[in-house]
Amino acid sequence: MSIPGTYVGDFAPYWHPVAYSHELTNRPLPARLLETDLVLWRTSAGVAATHRRCAHRGADLAAGEVTPEGVRCGFHGWTYGVDGRCVRVPSQPAAPISPKACIPAFKATERYGLIWVCLSPTPKAPLPEWPELEDGSVATVPLPRLDWDVSAGRLVEIILDVAHLGWVHRGTFGNPEVQEVPPYDVERLPEGGLRTRIVYPALAPSLEGAPPKVDRTTLTYDVTLPFAARLSFKPTLFYVHTVYAVASPISEDKMVGFYFSSYHPRLRNHFPELFVKSELAILEQDRRVLEGVRPKAHPVDFSSELHTRADRLPIEYRRALIALRTGQPVDGPAPE
Ligand code: FES
Ligand SMILES: [Fe+2]
Repeated sequence: MSIPGTYVGDFAPYWHPVAYSHELTNRPLPARLLETDLVLWRTSAGVAATHRRCAHRGADLAAGEVTPEGVRCGFHGWTYGVDGRCVRVPSQPAAPISPKACIPAFKATERYGLIWVCLSPTPKAPLPEWPELEDGSVATVPLPRLDWDVSAGRLVEIILDVAHLGWVHRGTFGNPEVQEVPPYDVERLPEGGLRTRIVYPALAPSLEGAPPKVDRTTLTYDVTLPFAARLSFKPTLFYVHTVYAVASPISEDKMVGFYFSSYHPRLRNHFPELFVKSELAILEQDRRVLEGVRPKAHPVDFSSELHTRADRLPIEYRRALIALRTGQPVDGPAPE
């Protein structure tokens, strides 16, 4: 499973979200990460993640039950603890349990309203640091999962893509009158992350059929490798909000996106509904473009595509991701 130099092996030692917290109730929940089928469940100490198939006859543990001892298979009642070891075989309760009666277990934790799993026992990096989500100053609202037929790297790249706004997002917030991208800087953060700030003349919807207003919106992009992006929108006419997007790789060609926004709690009667509606319209524009892009896999070099100065942030992201995979710094085509 974790062969270095393969897609799965390269990204196995990182934390990835596999579910929203609210999806994990008192039932086992199936999940899939990096070509691995998982079952998640809640314990008195937190959350657990193991392989989804029972070691006895391969039954689906996600169809079983959660007990104080662990997850119990619905076929013959074998029960597995958080370490994946079988602790109960009801058909022969007095016999010792074979050490072979175990399934792979993985590190799992819960933070920012997400369940995160690392398929390696030694994660190479911590979770993203988003302290503003934990100090009580903001509320959050999640979107339904983005179950898109695209790779994780390509989703992050389109979020970081400044030049597509006036094209892909016509009719939502993109400004078709402004296509030129002024030069901007990208700051490389010590842990390999990236940060950029630009001012974008977004179109803010206006009421009663009047033409939309141009609102010079400050966009602050903040990337945590491998697949997490925080994007803050600071308009002049409207309130600030920050979106958090994390692409969870199912395989090299497929991801599920977890996407939520923070907002000031005083806006609770308006913001969540507005956000979900408008953001789903914006993301649908991205999905239509991105699912048509080939190859689906996120390229691991720069030679098969063309690059401009406006692509600086996606280029820097791709450089950082290649460096993360290979352990070597990589040159990019962008002017420094
Ligand atoms: S298949 Fe799970 S207990 Fe038999
Ligand atoms: Fe977009």
